[in-house]
Amino acid sequence: MAGQKKLLRALAGEKQDVPPIWMMRQAGRYLPEYRATRAEAGDFLSLCYNSDLAAEVTLQPIRRYGFDAAILFADILLVPQALGADLWFVTGEGPRLSTITTEADFAKLGPASDIHETLNPIYETVRILSRELPPETTLIGFAGAPWTVATYMIAGRGTPDQGPAHALREENTALFEALLARITEATIDYLSKQIEAGAEVVKIFDSWAGSLKGEAFQKYALEPCRQITAALKERHPGIPVIGFPREAGEKYVGFAKATGVDCVALDNSVDPAWAAANVQVDGCVQGNLASRHMVTGGQELVDDTRRIVEAFRNGPHIFNLGHGITPDADPGNVQLMIDTVRGG
Ligand code: CP3
Repeated sequence: MAGQKKLLRALAGEKQDVPPIWMMRQAGRYLPEYRATRAEAGDFLSLCYNSDLAAEVTLQPIRRYGFDAAILFADILLVPQALGADLWFVTGEGPRLSTITTEADFAKLGPASDIHETLNPIYETVRILSRELPPETTLIGFAGAPWTVATYMIAGRGTPDQGPAHALREENTALFEALLARITEATIDYLSKQIEAGAEVVKIFDSWAGSLKGEAFQKYALEPCRQITAALKERHPGIPVIGFPREAGEKYVGFAKATGVDCVALDNSVDPAWAAANVQVDGCVQGNLASRHMVTGGQELVDDTRRIVEAFRNGPHIFNLGHGITPDADPGNVQLMIDTVRGG
């Protein structure tokens, strides 16, 4: 695999002395250059749909830190918007959407095949990035997993326990499943277009997978991820897929085999030694460092970083955080993490 990009080598199953590194939300408000470009764009959604500026913020952390991968700058909630939901962001609070709780709400959504008119600027961002990234940097495309996207579409906002989505799942299973199927279909087409535009890897974010228990996890987290992965690999043979069933706990075990993903992203609630023995046995793993270290720094950051590198040393591993970096993080702590991984 000599000559191939470091991140692609890890995804192909190669163990490396120094793992490739990137960071969830690496383009974000902790960086002054991001805040400046976002101000230039006006607001967050205008930034997402401005291909030149979205490419610019994607490149900023690559220039500053030399990460091994760049993740397309966009948001998982653009898919609901492209399906016809209203979407806006309240500064300091988060996303708001029109809610879907009845058949009449669902009937207002457009077909999956209509999403591209809205999402074309995102594919253009991918094309710009595949021209402008350094040759050693891998371009990651992404989408939200159907369950996580549905939790926002049903509640109209982020919720601590995903209560409204669980309620609909129990009270009107047919409507809930129709919504999940529509999101699944749109997600396959959306990721497929990202790959055609130049994304070399795609990641499926199931941030709220952990609130699905037992059989519901199999049906609504695992199965949609399996369907999306299978469809993408059929259309684009060899495309690597990263799955992130956040807070899946014991259900991380066997997730890669059951869904066909090439890599499982781990949150920071799992013990790395346990994950090496039970999850990494099936292939590449990513993640695990607590994001709070990017705020607090110091020897604890160094020790935890070393502990994770050490635990995953005997198999394919991509160094990353267990969740996104937060706006209060210190850019200097990110450099300390990178120096620790690369310099030992
Ligand atoms: O990782 C990256 O750098 C790529 C870009 C990216 C964003 N969102 C940009 C963003 C990615 C991969 C996402 C994924 C995303 N978006 C998820 C899944 C991952 C996770 O965090 O669990 C979810 C649940 C969303 C939905 C979303 N977008 C929320 C809940 C919020 C508000 C919370 C917050 O952090 O402000 C957003 C906004 C958002 N998405 C920002 C960024 C950089 C901050 C917006 C700003 O600049 O004001």
